[in-house]
Amino acid sequence: MIETVPKSMESFEMLVVCVLFLSLITMSSTLDMITPTQPLRDPVNENVTLVSTNGTFEAGFFSHEKSGSRYLGIWYKNISPRTVVWVANKETPLQDHSGVLEVDGDEGFLSIKNGTGAKIWFSNASSHTPSKPVAVELLESGNMVVKDGDNNFLWQSFDYPDDTLLPGMKLGMNFKTGHHRALRSWKSFTDPTPGEFVFGVDTRGLPQLVITKEPSDYIVYRPGSWNGLSITGLPGEITDPLIKSFFVMNEDEIFYQIQLLNSSTKLRSRLIPEGYQVRLIWSDETKRWDTQYPGSFDECERYSLCGANTICNVSGAHHCECLSGFQSNFADSCDRTAPLDCNKGDKFEKYEGMKLPDTSSSWYDKSISLQECEKLCLSNCSCTAYAQLNISVPGSGCLHWFHDIVDIRILAQGGQDFYLRITTPKFQDHAFNRKIGGIVVGCTIFIIVLVVFGIIFCLKRKKLKQSETNYWKDKNEKDDIDLPIFDFLSISNATNNFSESNKLGQGGFGPVYKGILSDGQEIAVKRLSKTSGQGLEEFKNEVMLIAKLQHRNLVKLLGCSIQQDEKMLIYEFMPNRSLDYFIFDSTRSTLIGWAKRFEIIGGIAKGLLYLHQDSRLKIIHRDLKTSNVLLDSNMKPKISDFGMARTFGLDQDEANTNKVMGTYGYMPPEYAVHGSFSVKSDVFSFGVIVLEIISGRKNRGFRDPNNQLNLLGHAWRLWIEKRPMELMDDSVDSVVVPSEILRYIHVGLLCVQQRPEDRPNMSSVVFMLNSETLLPEPTQPGFYTGKNNSTTTDSSSRNCDAYSLNEMSETLVEAR
Ligand SMILES: *[C@@H]1O[C@H](CO)[C@@H](O)[C@H](O)[C@H]1NC(C)=O
Ligand SMILES: *[C@@H]1O[C@H](CO)[C@@H](O)[C@H](O)[C@H]1NC(C)=O
Ligand SMILES: *[C@@H]1O[C@H](CO)[C@@H](O)[C@H](O)[C@H]1NC(C)=O
Ligand SMILES: *[C@@H]1O[C@H](CO)[C@@H](O)[C@H](O)[C@H]1NC(C)=O
Ligand SMILES: *[C@@H]1O[C@H](CO)[C@@H](O)[C@H](O)[C@H]1NC(C)=O
Ligand SMILES: *[C@@H]1O[C@H](CO)[C@@H](O)[C@H](O)[C@H]1NC(C)=O
Ligand SMILES: *[C@@H]1O[C@H](CO)[C@@H](O)[C@H](O)[C@H]1NC(C)=O
Ligand SMILES: *[C@@H]1O[C@H](CO)[C@@H](O)[C@H](O)[C@H]1NC(C)=O
Repeated sequence: MIETVPKSMESFEMLVVCVLFLSLITMSSTLDMITPTQPLRDPVNENVTLVSTNGTFEAGFFSHEKSGSRYLGIWYKNISPRTVVWVANKETPLQDHSGVLEVDGDEGFLSIKNGTGAKIWFSNASSHTPSKPVAVELLESGNMVVKDGDNNFLWQSFDYPDDTLLPGMKLGMNFKTGHHRALRSWKSFTDPTPGEFVFGVDTRGLPQLVITKEPSDYIVYRPGSWNGLSITGLPGEITDPLIKSFFVMNEDEIFYQIQLLNSSTKLRSRLIPEGYQVRLIWSDETKRWDTQYPGSFDECERYSLCGANTICNVSGAHHCECLSGFQSNFADSCDRTAPLDCNKGDKFEKYEGMKLPDTSSSWYDKSISLQECEKLCLSNCSCTAYAQLNISVPGSGCLHWFHDIVDIRILAQGGQDFYLRITTPKFQDHAFNRKIGGIVVGCTIFIIVLVVFGIIFCLKRKKLKQSETNYWKDKNEKDDIDLPIFDFLSISNATNNFSESNKLGQGGFGPVYKGILSDGQEIAVKRLSKTSGQGLEEFKNEVMLIAKLQHRNLVKLLGCSIQQDEKMLIYEFMPNRSLDYFIFDSTRSTLIGWAKRFEIIGGIAKGLLYLHQDSRLKIIHRDLKTSNVLLDSNMKPKISDFGMARTFGLDQDEANTNKVMGTYGYMPPEYAVHGSFSVKSDVFSFGVIVLEIISGRKNRGFRDPNNQLNLLGHAWRLWIEKRPMELMDDSVDSVVVPSEILRYIHVGLLCVQQRPEDRPNMSSVVFMLNSETLLPEPTQPGFYTGKNNSTTTDSSSRNCDAYSLNEMSETLVEAR
């Protein structure tokens, strides 16, 4: 009957009618094995899949909604929406339903062929000649295996993990074959093309689990090494009621594995496209995947957040503290206050409740006891710390670190002991020495103090004499920035002598011009008006900041130009202008559909996350708005305009300013009213942008005709009235998954919460935008009422006046 459907049918409607008709009368069929004579086909009008023994998993051809690409994959059979755990032809999707999965009876390898019989994917042939018959089965664990007549596995999908770790799968290195089993993230949630994150075992030193990011393979997160009971950063696995974890280290292989305690639990660990590992459990009651791990993210999870020889303490006033015996070198790490005294006088400081540091250059011995471990460390000059290797047996095993201590943190519970080598003060052995020492030290300190004061005095005088330009040049050299300085003439030529026709727009501090350099490169020139609020100080601030920042969602600074009081910044040129140019225009807004809008939101979030956390400087943008989000030729967003950004010392979480800068409509209440800002101020602005992108309306200037609400109030009202989808810009007619848009609105509302502490930080935002986790319910946003411009904070009327008075000016430079 299926064969009677003509393949070359011309009329699309006819085909649709036929498919609908056939779907009513054909049952989907399942296979329990694939053999050389029975391949798995992907015809349009037939649902054939390979099903595991007890029906937990299913394998077959599938495509994601919206995309026509067909993939061969494995998913949970009775879970909707389809949860894919493995994909074969990730890089070579089929464009039609002609795919066939076949097994070769003589060689024993699997292949997928397309309509013209070309192999678009194949598994490697087995090393030995298979005995017949050869068959492919899907095991209850989700492992697809090619078996021979003697039940040997010739190939198994578990050896080639995708982005999902299933119970029973091994993550690690097989020394016999040289094969490394690691998870690889997808490009996006709907595109299985290999992404940039890899989750595997680093076998250097004491083996440890790490998530690295390509192309440079730097570590982004490090669950850590095995301590006999658990991975050092995942102590919760010891008492986990659902799983047991293992770490096997022998001559043949090193691997990490989780096993289910109850085989009917459905649990998977996924390396999501953003590079986080999430562990999800299926709930039969709610019919949903619940996130088991991580419960919450904290900053200390980020690899080496604080730099070398520091300790990350989330409950501390500052997250980052130098280890004992170290002091900050003000360059992202700490140095020893005094060199180690190699032969005598060194001792160890004990740290309890720790996640052990990076072990990639450590040394270990399973048989040495803890006491011997200490002695051995003392006897080797380059040994800087030690710890017990196997905490399952008290005092057993020895682990040494050399040189810097990297990525150590305090765990809320379940941490272990760590012994850091420190130098004790000298002259402690004899009273006599102490006395002499005391005098010598006293005199030395006095002399040092004198000298230091002298130097400071001289420096101060010298500095006063230095011209501003010189000072700036000095600083430039000191910070090692290789930033091209353009001469004024070439910029003037490039911009047609700053002609009106080259003007792109007016920024907060001056006009921006388009220019073409003599070599043809297109540039954007920000010419700082002489009367602008941006003095040399702000200019230096902006230049130094941006020059250090490199991220694909931040606009790139190419150089600068300074001549007398004329200051200019030269940026890469963004051909598609800014976000507001598109989303607030009734015609242009139709050009960017929902998928693109989500991508833009995701890009802004990542750029902002980089500013807040990843760039090592903690930067608050303070003037984030749609006109500061530029679009490149691929409509990828790039955040611009850091003129008012402030670097925050790592120890500073919040600050106050008496100069309120920024743009009303994007400012959070605590900033507009009290002038206090933090990373959460940017989160608020981000939330406004999200709601603006979804609604296609400006927060400022929008008035809900019936209720006199601003955009935030309007969004909130729709939310509580349970009709949030009405917020959507109806000029966009591309297809959207309702749950997806709902999540964006939800996150947008969480970001504009009244109280900064109720807003998520950007790493949570990035995570929430990309996961299926349950989000907290938002409450009423800040600046909710728009009626008479009164804010919901207990602000003074003076501030409210300022708010309404300045309503007309887009960018406000100074409000008080
Ligand atoms: C194939 O399966 C899908 C999902 O279960 C179903 O929506 C569709 O109607 C089925 N098609 C046929 C022809 O049975
Ligand atoms: C399949 O289910 C049966 C009955 O519940 C059970 O005895 C058997 O162990 C299961 N097989 C697998 C591979 O899980
Ligand atoms: C099959 O794959 C080959 C090689 O990649 C390609 O040239 C051919 O066009 C494909 N045929 C179909 C029907 O997709
Ligand atoms: C085949 O083997 C190579 C080298 O070990 C490996 O990179 C590749 O992923 C394997 N392919 C499959 C489909 O197993
Ligand atoms: C830790 O010690 C226990 C008990 O001797 C042993 O079973 C286990 O294999 C050891 N683990 C490691 C990683 O050496
Ligand atoms: C395993 O889980 C299933 C479903 O959650 C439950 O019905 C069963 O009792 C559990 N078995 C054991 C041995 O705990
Ligand atoms: C971490 O911070 C808490 C709270 O300030 C403090 O009590 C504790 O001593 C700190 N731990 C370390 C090891 O510095
Ligand atoms: C100290 O330990 C390192 C690493 O194990 C080793 O290479 C070095 O030879 C040791 N030095 C001494 C003096 O034992």
